[in-house]
Amino acid sequence: MSAKLIKGTEIREQILEEITAEVAEIKEKYGKVPGLVTILVGENPASISYVTLKIKTAHRVGFHEIQDTQSVDISEDDLLALIDKYNNDDSINGILVQLPLPKQINEKKILNAIDPDKDVDGFHPINVGRLMIGGDEVKFPPCTPAGIQEMIVRAGVETKGAEVVVVGRSNIVGKPIANMMLQKGVGANSTVTVVHTGTKDLAGHCKRADILIVAAGVPGLVKPEWIKPGACVIDVGVNRVGEKISEKTGKKIAILKGDVDFDAAKEIAGSITPVPGGVGPMTITMLMLNTLRAIKFKLGIN
Ligand code: GUN
Repeated sequence: MSAKLIKGTEIREQILEEITAEVAEIKEKYGKVPGLVTILVGENPASISYVTLKIKTAHRVGFHEIQDTQSVDISEDDLLALIDKYNNDDSINGILVQLPLPKQINEKKILNAIDPDKDVDGFHPINVGRLMIGGDEVKFPPCTPAGIQEMIVRAGVETKGAEVVVVGRSNIVGKPIANMMLQKGVGANSTVTVVHTGTKDLAGHCKRADILIVAAGVPGLVKPEWIKPGACVIDVGVNRVGEKISEKTGKKIAILKGDVDFDAAKEIAGSITPVPGGVGPMTITMLMLNTLRAIKFKLGIN
């Protein structure tokens, strides 16, 4: 049996259409649109391509968007002053500082300087705390975990009482998705295990999973025999394992491989996300959703 493919590219289109319609409604009723600024420091090629796509998507859904590019040698004080400017700019609802930042800048200090009510990445400690409490407290669920949960829900996978195993304990994916899946509510209410580099029997834990979420950053880590027949497998890994020439554009592009041995796993799993085209497209989509949430909070729309 071949697993059902959970395609992030398709789910993205549905959600972006929903966002575009809501933005138009808000514009008509309140004369305002969500505003998103992305701050890019330096010329890291991967960061440039992520930020370009974020701004393009923001434009597509009708946001007011600003791409603020700063020199790689900007001082920490100047970057803090820039964040302060956007914290006080009423046309901006979401502020995103693209990571990683250059060495002279303390990343934590920068993320903590963003107004928590404009922190659409959900990385500020106040938003991490709100996520931990759950329910109505949550303002901005971090984008990749929010995308994962959305995919599970839209694929119709039962989460209540499900055994969820998360591979990886990063602050951006592993810890928050584990927390989100154990909360009460739709798309959650699961029994969650987090496994990591200190875990003794990785395979044994994975084999119990009804929903296996893999965010380890190790290409092909999860073997097909670790997957319970019929399980839902979410592969968050985006590992660059080489380069090839794109058939579409003729340009050099990265060869991407997930953390799961996809070809073999799809014969055992009930549903599975591909790489690329799975979780990847969901992250930017959820950033748009968080920016929409930000203006709705501000305008008091539920
Ligand atoms: N760099 C890689 N992923 C992310 C992300 O989700 N947010 C930000 N701000 N920077 C990133």
